[in-house]
Amino acid sequence: MRKKIVAGNWKMNKNFLEGIDLAKELVEKHQPSESNKQLVVCPPFIHTAALSELFSATSIELGAQNCHTSDKGAYTGEISAGMLKSLNAKYCLVGHSERRANFFEDNQELFQKCKQLLANDIRPIFCCGEMLEDRREGAYFDVIEDQLEVLWKLSKTDFQKVVIAYEPIWAIGTGETATAAQAQEVHAFIRSQVAKKMDVTIAENTSILYGGSCKASNAIELFSKPDVDGGLIGGAALQADEILAIYNAL
Ligand code: PGA
Repeated sequence: MRKKIVAGNWKMNKNFLEGIDLAKELVEKHQPSESNKQLVVCPPFIHTAALSELFSATSIELGAQNCHTSDKGAYTGEISAGMLKSLNAKYCLVGHSERRANFFEDNQELFQKCKQLLANDIRPIFCCGEMLEDRREGAYFDVIEDQLEVLWKLSKTDFQKVVIAYEPIWAIGTGETATAAQAQEVHAFIRSQVAKKMDVTIAENTSILYGGSCKASNAIELFSKPDVDGGLIGGAALQADEILAIYNAL
């Protein structure tokens, strides 16, 4: 059975003390349900070591928002997948639309990041999603198909550790959520692509998350769709009660 996941992406929010407070509140209030329902927190790097410790005896998994394409070396300011592993990180975002747009990350770079993470037993949460123009022009399947190309270069064994997040760019941070039907349509398309490029069993076991203005008030409807296996949550992950309510909607 595929895992259901709610992953919080704090982006560049929360100073050190604020991050600790939020993490402590999560630890205190989180009531894990079934073992295949997972809460993941992806904080900024400054929080990684402290949160690793805070989450160590809990069922909350630590994630990260980025890693470098190399394992070590003269890359001032960067963090490697091996460093994340040393803090027990289990997930890492790859190809978030903000990184594609602001840091010009291309498919080659995203592939290298996936390889680094997989070599360190960290599950990539691979993000894809179209711009508003693509949707208006009816080109969104083509855009997503291009973005997914990165994943078909992975071996089947590696691919099975990947989580996919569909995040329509027009819904990120805008308050405009995709309807559950719109999300389901794309998720079903992504799963069909996985079935075609990998195989049907792998497709059935792949977790596909929705992201883009997902909050407690719309999570139940989104998660009720058969191909929506959870959410990647930005703004709503900054408040413990809100992200926990989203988790409880799984
Ligand atoms: P949002 O962000 O929930 O604030 O729309 C989602 C994301 O960018 O991962």
